[in-house]
Amino acid sequence: MNERNFSISYQSFKGLEELSENDKALCLKAEEALNTSYSPYSRFKVGAALQLKGGQVVLGSNQENVAYPSGLCAERVALFAIGSSDPNAVIESMAITAKTDNFVIEKPVTSCGACLQVMAEVEQKQKQEIEVLFYCINGEIIKVKGIKNLLPFVFTEVRLVV
Ligand code: THU
Repeated sequence: MNERNFSISYQSFKGLEELSENDKALCLKAEEALNTSYSPYSRFKVGAALQLKGGQVVLGSNQENVAYPSGLCAERVALFAIGSSDPNAVIESMAITAKTDNFVIEKPVTSCGACLQVMAEVEQKQKQEIEVLFYCINGEIIKVKGIKNLLPFVFTEVRLVV
């Protein structure tokens, strides 16, 4: 038996004022994306803003459905929108935030495993790591470079990769 460890690296910021102008603007775009959240079931709004190489920003928000599993997270709404409209786009960074009237969100909301798996595929496809900002409105912001720092045991099967 061998005991092994992963080392995961991330940055923590106290608030928007500690971020670069570009990262701050992207976080504010993620906040703007909350406005289009369709979340009548969870009442938990999630917004994502993706910055493409060249400067374009694409927004996404969670879209729920009365058949609960038919809904989709904000991150994948935005990632798949880009994949289907501009398949050669390179995503440099993305910001994610959340809001609800039901309780106070005190920590950055991090992405679910399914969204991380999709982000990992995008990285592999574009051959460039993505910077991810998890933005807690009025709180901490976590910044991670590369999905390996979020999903170290990512599913990958080289014999299935085209
Ligand atoms: N949600 C996201 O949009 N992103 C995630 O990474 C996790 C969860 C959404 C799905 C659902 O609409 C709501 O948050 C509550 O789970």
